[in-house]
Amino acid sequence: MDTSPKLLVVRNLTKAFVNDHAPKTVFSGIDFDLAERDSLAVVGPSGCGKTTLLLIIAGLLRADAGEVLLHGNRIVRPSSETALVLQHYGLFPWKTVAANITLGADIQQINISDTELMNVKRDLGIESLDALYPAQLSGGQRQRVALARAVLLRPSLLLLDEPFAAIDAITRERLQANLLALFRRRGFSMITVTHNIEEAVFLGRRIIVLDNKQKGIKTMIDNPQAGSTDFRNNPEFFERCLELRKILEDAG
Ligand SMILES: Nc1ncnc2c1ncn2[C@@H]1O[C@H](COP(=O)(O)OP(=O)(O)OP(=O)(O)O)[C@@H](O)[C@H]1O
Ligand SMILES: [Mg+2]
Repeated sequence: MDTSPKLLVVRNLTKAFVNDHAPKTVFSGIDFDLAERDSLAVVGPSGCGKTTLLLIIAGLLRADAGEVLLHGNRIVRPSSETALVLQHYGLFPWKTVAANITLGADIQQINISDTELMNVKRDLGIESLDALYPAQLSGGQRQRVALARAVLLRPSLLLLDEPFAAIDAITRERLQANLLALFRRRGFSMITVTHNIEEAVFLGRRIIVLDNKQKGIKTMIDNPQAGSTDFRNNPEFFERCLELRKILEDAG
């Protein structure tokens, strides 16, 4: 029996949107949980409700039925225990990199020591960007700054919605490795929404496949090797990618 403490419990979650006066169910009966220091990837065809699910967990959107519990407390509004990273960075163009990195922590009055700041910047390879402005950065550098800002909020749960989608393949793999380094060092749990099969298999110790036909979870794959840096070179990595590809081909 699994007795590890649950950080997140999602029970019987249902959500519909009203379009043209008719409610359209996005998903219903979504059930899963996530332990401390654990990672989950969420994949599925466009429109199956991945972003909707993340926004409900973040407390930014209300479900129609079911509940989300974080450390046993029902989520009905954004929590300081959760941080969200989106595809398009959300940096303030008029602030320097240094100011962007500490902005969230400053607002939440979290005291960041110089050592903690240095460690995060080093894990992300952004030690020398402090004086620059977002417009002077590449997409990969901007997303590193956004990640630094999010983890300095010291979340228990980091939510990422297609965080590396706009980034070239090699830079993307480096960013995934950077994210893993932070995940191991800082001990948060994370949920990554992605369209990328390799990314899901590299980052998610469990992978949830959402489905447009069933309007819910089609499959949940256990992937316990995820989270080790050299998993990408392991034959099981390729087998798992193949397995996920087959499931996704049938999920549209
Ligand atoms: N605010 C809204 N009002 C009405 N319908 C919405 C709203 N937000 C999302 N939807 C609808 O809900 C469904 C799920 O949307 P969602 O953005 O969660 O999908 P997704 O899986 O993230 O898709 P993608 O992979 O393209 O990002 C879609 O049919 C979308 O049109
Ligand atoms: Mg989406």
